[in-house]
Amino acid sequence: MIEIEHLQKTYQRGDGTPVMALQDVSCVIADGEFVTIRGASGTGKSTLMNIIGCLDTPTAGIYRLSGEDVSGYSDQQRSQIRNQRIGFIFQSFNLLARTTATENVELPSLYRGEAVDRDKARALLARVGLADRADHFISELSGGEQQRVAIARALMNDPPLLLADEPTGNLDSAAGAQIMELLTELHGEGRTIVLVTHDEEVAAYARRELLIRDGRIATDRAQSTLHAVRSAG
Ligand SMILES: Nc1ncnc2c1ncn2[C@@H]1O[C@H](COP(=O)(O)OP(=O)(O)OP(=O)(O)O)[C@@H](O)[C@H]1O
Ligand SMILES: [Mg+2]
Repeated sequence: MIEIEHLQKTYQRGDGTPVMALQDVSCVIADGEFVTIRGASGTGKSTLMNIIGCLDTPTAGIYRLSGEDVSGYSDQQRSQIRNQRIGFIFQSFNLLARTTATENVELPSLYRGEAVDRDKARALLARVGLADRADHFISELSGGEQQRVAIARALMNDPPLLLADEPTGNLDSAAGAQIMELLTELHGEGRTIVLVTHDEEVAAYARRELLIRDGRIATDRAQSTLHAVRSAG
């Protein structure tokens, strides 16, 4: 469970001027939810995702993950939480180009200092439909394939929480739809998914939508209607 209370984030610009990226955000996301975050550019979506993902800390306010107040955690404490509980999927895939798909999927085990489980990495690649691409270099894969490698990598430590910041932003609509079908399956397995998108069609896969405006949640609504329309069509 994600519990956020009166979260604020202020950045310092290069010239010292403060930028209030998050003004006052409060919300609760229960285990097993599938939520999208939408809003205009620069409204604080990635800032919020980075805090939820323990990549960054808030300037003020409280963030509890599974009941644990992680707001003031050190870099080291946060990296441990990320390794154990959170999978990330980014717009730009963030893979190592001159490395094979399998090696990329294995990276999280390396970061954990564990023995690499090659069979698991290959099974995850098969699961995202890339069994026959396992030994390809990342530079030899299409954008949609690269994003599927990134999803396999995000699953390597079997995290209950998946965070995706514009996962379909660099893909055409067919490749984007494949990614969304995969995320829907992973949600069906009980994982919590929080996804940032600009795309209404992508947002329609989720059950709940948070609309961010000027560093605040402007709207928080259920998506049952949109979802029903999509399933029927
Ligand atoms: N490291 C930083 N230093 C200073 N200002 C920052 C930093 N990161 C983000 N900002 C500012 O904080 C605000 C929110 O940025 P954020 O990246 O969260 O927006 P976003 O909603 O994800 O936008 P987009 O849709 O374009 O990705 C913006 O005004 C941005 O310029
Ligand atoms: Mg962003």
